Amino acid sequence: MSIVFGVDFGTTNSALSVYRNGKVDIVDVDALSPSGSLMRSVLYFDEDHQIFTGQEAINQYVSDGAAGRFMQSIKNFLPNRSFEGTEVFGRKYGIDDLVAIILKKIKARGEAHVGTAVDSVVLGRPVLFSEDAEKDALAQVRLEKAARKAGFKEIFFQFEPVAAALSYEESLPAGAEKVVFIGDFGGGTSDFTVIRVKGGAFARADRRSDVLSLGGVYTAGDKFDSQIMWEKIARYFGRGVKYKGMGKDELFDIPHSIIYTLCQWHRIPLLRARKIREQIRLIKNAATDRKAIENLEHLIGDNYGFFLFQCIEKAKCELSQHDLATVSFTERDLTIREDVSREEFETINRENVRKIAACIDEVVAKSGVTHEGIDTVFLTGGTSRIPFIRSLFEERFGAAKLEQRNAFTSVVHGLGASVPLFV
Ligand SMILES: Nc1ncnc2c1ncn2[C@@H]1O[C@H](COP(=O)(O)OP(=O)(O)OP(=O)(O)O)[C@@H](O)[C@H]1O
Ligand SMILES: [Mg+2]
Repeated sequence: MSIVFGVDFGTTNSALSVYRNGKVDIVDVDALSPSGSLMRSVLYFDEDHQIFTGQEAINQYVSDGAAGRFMQSIKNFLPNRSFEGTEVFGRKYGIDDLVAIILKKIKARGEAHVGTAVDSVVLGRPVLFSEDAEKDALAQVRLEKAARKAGFKEIFFQFEPVAAALSYEESLPAGAEKVVFIGDFGGGTSDFTVIRVKGGAFARADRRSDVLSLGGVYTAGDKFDSQIMWEKIARYFGRGVKYKGMGKDELFDIPHSIIYTLCQWHRIPLLRARKIREQIRLIKNAATDRKAIENLEHLIGDNYGFFLFQCIEKAKCELSQHDLATVSFTERDLTIREDVSREEFETINRENVRKIAACIDEVVAKSGVTHEGIDTVFLTGGTSRIPFIRSLFEERFGAAKLEQRNAFTSVVHGLGASVPLFV
């Protein structure tokens, strides 16, 4: 059998595995990144149309003083029908072109590693790109198109949590059989499956009948970052500011849509539209807090949303280990130091957690297996490190059933292990 790649194109991180002679290896895709094996799923275009990916994109963006165009969480746009692409310094890029740049880079790294061209790939996909079936289908079509543009000829899809299950399966002794709940908590989506796994069965047969249920929800790490932004940071950028209507004494609220967009990192560039910037300028001149609107203008104009969200994300990750973290951020004459306690973080995310919990219960119910019938809960993905995510499972299944490891590589390893199912 020829060599096949497994590619986990994640909302936050992407990774690569190689299937060769019945064996799966994970390949480092970004020599510059602190994690080595992972590449941040980001792009940077400088003004000369040079394009950078991963850590190099971040470094270049910083050294250019954020002059070019930076993009993150591109996967989130795949199911978005109205987002067909974007224009960067006068050149048009379709959404599939943007994804293809990342996939092409990963493909090249993999080919350099194995020393030969590889044109077959198993790509991961969340259980749900979108709750709307049509958008969900559109997302996969776009991802497939991107893979083709990146040079892959044979393209297969595997559900991300099923891939994680295949990874988990390899840790079982031969002959052992278990019913496992898999929870993959990433940046964009939380994906679940209840699946029968068998030690020693290394992905040989058609496994469809082992998948007892599948489900997912569009709520994961990025939403938790947004919530911190909304509750703790957005007031520095105009949340709560009022302004006087032209020729009127009445005070109006700053449009909700502006603040809402501001709180979703990947959408901030949409605020660069000329009409919106003009609207913000008018608001500034009649605002109850002019400084906050100036901060908003700088955030949009200087393109520093990424750094702000990195500080928010850092604080969020610290809360997985500590009771208190601080969002620290300085830019021009703005200094932010906001403490967030773990308790507060949990409170402000109550609605997000409720959605996740409802989806977990639905996936268990659909499987037809009782809580007692589920032998193990295997959690993976960066967001599974958050204590309140773990506690959702402790409450339902008991702490003894929880297993957690390889937060960032079990999906990509399992994509490689899926190869014999397809080829
Ligand atoms: N220690 C931590 N505590 C809390 N969150 C964390 C931690 N480490 C990473 N994360 C979060 O995990 C997410 C990234 O995880 P991962 O790489 O599994 O996602 P992804 O595969 O890119 O996304 P998706 O699977 O949704 O497409 C980010 O939101 C990041 O902030
Ligand atoms: Mg993932």
